[in-house]
Amino acid sequence: MKFTKCSRLRGEVTVPGDKSISHRSVMFGSIAKGTTEVHNYLQGADCLSTISCFRKMGIEIENRGDAVLVHGRGLRGLTRPAAVLDCGNSGTTTRLISGILSAQDFDVTLTGDASIQKRPMKRIMEPLSLMGASIESVNGNGCAPLRISGRKLHGISYTSKVASAQVKSAILLAGLYADGETRVTEPYLSRNHSEIMLNYFGADVRTEIEDATGKASLAPCSHGNATGTYGSANIADLPGQPQPAGRATAVIQPATELHGNLVAVPGDISSAAFFLCAGLMTPNSEILIRNVGINPTRAGILNVIRDMGGDITLLNEHAGSGEPTADILVRSSSLHGTVIEGAVIPTLIDELPMIAAMACFADGTTVIRDAAELKVKESDRIAVMTENLTAMGADVTAADDGIIIRGGRPLHGAVVDSHLDHRIAMTFAVTGLCADGETQILGAECVNISYPRFCEDLKRLIR
Ligand code: S3P
Repeated sequence: MKFTKCSRLRGEVTVPGDKSISHRSVMFGSIAKGTTEVHNYLQGADCLSTISCFRKMGIEIENRGDAVLVHGRGLRGLTRPAAVLDCGNSGTTTRLISGILSAQDFDVTLTGDASIQKRPMKRIMEPLSLMGASIESVNGNGCAPLRISGRKLHGISYTSKVASAQVKSAILLAGLYADGETRVTEPYLSRNHSEIMLNYFGADVRTEIEDATGKASLAPCSHGNATGTYGSANIADLPGQPQPAGRATAVIQPATELHGNLVAVPGDISSAAFFLCAGLMTPNSEILIRNVGINPTRAGILNVIRDMGGDITLLNEHAGSGEPTADILVRSSSLHGTVIEGAVIPTLIDELPMIAAMACFADGTTVIRDAAELKVKESDRIAVMTENLTAMGADVTAADDGIIIRGGRPLHGAVVDSHLDHRIAMTFAVTGLCADGETQILGAECVNISYPRFCEDLKRLIR
């Protein structure tokens, strides 16, 4: 994949369905009774891995492209797969499915590609073991392959060191099968799609948020409504609101059954991020991005863009038919540096590579800290971003928990390696449009993981 400097970007784009919500719709649909009909399911490699895993456990899933029909068999309806379950490149599949498998009455081995086999799994192995699960790393290195033998589980009260929706969700899913209440506390609220969708499917999940003094209150994480879709209407007006600064605890009660339902997946804000930043960074540009999910536990990038002086407008905001969504209009802007830290980090963790690249085009310094999680994503995103931005002439320094970017230097094209990380590949496609000369991205086919039509969509906007 090669890109050269472009003079402007103009037009409209509709990004594919949200990856996190797509995974959950098939997982929860598989263990619910009845049919779950999913619209706008992400047809990227990661979400296809989730479909394949549940098919191997006896669930009939019709993938019609525009709609996915999951014929769920209830909490106890999965059957032992004949072979190893392959989660591909997907951390979400590996970690969330482990929570479900911990409670089944069969044994199973989970594996994935070379990247998955390096990603930390102790973070789910520890809490699931405390619940009574038998889960071991086959190579003894705390990574996949994982061998899981289902057991009777009990509820726990667990405090996670990291704000991770994958850890939280694995524990909540195991909690559906436990003999009592399960509580999981994280340092800051991470994305709450599991809580919203589990409630919509009939589970009992609530969230307690602590303020800076440690006082707890209930957070709006669920809202079933009469239209047969799901969402959280009472957080529709929250995207501009700061993320709660204290710890968050999700509490789930054991369930007797979940009930399948209609799920309308909003566009993925993590994919929209590439067009948001491209529109801000490229002169004379204006892009309308349609139907983007703006759940506040995911929409931190909108706050950061505003902090940096970026021109974005939310249009057609609605919450009635699912999670809150909006169209986002973005125009080229002169940006200035900012500090990105603390509670906002989990709400934009996947967007940080693109934000770091955009900060090279801002005046002044941008500091990203409290983001050590970047080191254990599909690649070590602190190292890879630092290496690639430096190759393009940027002034950046890697830190243990983030990156410091001194903006304002013009970038030049270079050969950059995606390290088979889809978000790195897309970040450098956009950066290449704003750099002098040619930028070549090695291993760019990995965009298939979350956004198969990315290159076509981006090239269509070049004027
Ligand atoms: C995800 C949670 C995040 C995110 C990942 C998807 C999810 O990971 O980075 O792309 O769907 O729950 P962590 O839970 O590890 O932070």
